[in-house]
Amino acid sequence: MKTITGLTGILLAAGKGERAGGETAKQYRLLGGRSVLAHAYASLRRVPGMGRIVVVIGADEVGNASRALADVESAPLFVIGGAERRDSVRRAIDHLAALDAAPSHVFVHDSARPFVPAEVTERLLAALERGAAAAMPVLAVADTLVRGHGDLAGDVVPRDGLHRVQTPQAFRFNVLSAAHHAWDPVRSATDDAQMVRAAGHGVVLVEGDQRLEKITMAQDFARVGALNGIGAEVRTGTGYDVHRLVPDKPLWLCGLEIPHSHGLSGHSDADVAIHALVDAILGALAEGDIGQHFPPSDEKWRGAASDRFLDYARDRIVARQGRLLHADVTIICEAPKIGPHRDAMRDRLAEILSVERERVSVKATTTEGLGFTGRREGIAAQAVATLLLG
Ligand code: CTP
Ligand code: MG
Repeated sequence: MKTITGLTGILLAAGKGERAGGETAKQYRLLGGRSVLAHAYASLRRVPGMGRIVVVIGADEVGNASRALADVESAPLFVIGGAERRDSVRRAIDHLAALDAAPSHVFVHDSARPFVPAEVTERLLAALERGAAAAMPVLAVADTLVRGHGDLAGDVVPRDGLHRVQTPQAFRFNVLSAAHHAWDPVRSATDDAQMVRAAGHGVVLVEGDQRLEKITMAQDFARVGALNGIGAEVRTGTGYDVHRLVPDKPLWLCGLEIPHSHGLSGHSDADVAIHALVDAILGALAEGDIGQHFPPSDEKWRGAASDRFLDYARDRIVARQGRLLHADVTIICEAPKIGPHRDAMRDRLAEILSVERERVSVKATTTEGLGFTGRREGIAAQAVATLLLG
């Protein structure tokens, strides 16, 4: 296949994603550990012959968008979009038209469609190579269509010849640009092909693909992910920590003060069990260890209550759209006896982590008088955390 030279991408990401809900707009949410926007960008990057890709984003989103694209593009080209999708496309067109070498052809693509199968790309390129002014992927409508009158069924709408329209849509650049400039600004337009057609050009239909489905509602993340073999993944991390026992100090374990003759010494409150658990969570996230996030050299953490570290670990899970499935903590010491405090410890950890008590296990063992724990010089703790990452 010969490649089109002068091919450019317009990747739309200036929407608010209102229908999908959630705190973060859908294009910035993660799917299989990578933002929807980065998936879409990588999809366009794989189009044979693709040159520059302009990413259209909301005002004030440069930081968000740069971070979201970091693992696929270190220097993205941003253009600030407008109120409607068509305004966003228009701004990208005007940006490209002002360049020394305006593109010959463009792919206009919704970032809300993160996965573009190569077969669809090939069909679009083939149409352009045959001289088409415009081409777009469509899927035949399979379900019976019916007009609704409130909650009552009206007439069936014959579905013969009806298609669902997808993106990327491919255009000769000057055709797209002229169509946008000619469009009556009060008319709405949900895609570009209809504008090109209104300007008198034929739009070639090529076969679309289920995997190209758009993320519109909240439930579409999992569905579109599954269609593309991307789902939530289970991650496990382990943590281990030791602190020295010293007389006349409070003993903190699992966020509780435990009556005992000795306490643990350390920079913070030396809650060895929480430290091991935080490391287990950071390990499952592959985000380093507790010392990196809370350096002992930092005076800020002197005497700090360790539940703050666990709060932080929980926030990191939330930031990765994850959830703690299970935490298992083992405390290794001769004394004090952990059994009487076990349930209170589970409750306290569950409370900090915002999970049910059934997801938290606290166990204890001695080392039969052997080693530093056996000599009561210190307490060790180990932890395993299991997370589900979206
Ligand atoms: N889009 C855009 N500029 C706009 C509106 C939409 O660049 N002013 C982009 C979106 O980011 C999305 C694509 O156009 O990738 C398709 O739009 P849609 O699915 O409607 O996304 P949103 O407008 O973000 O979602 P919603 O309508 O639910 O708010
Ligand atoms: Mg919209």
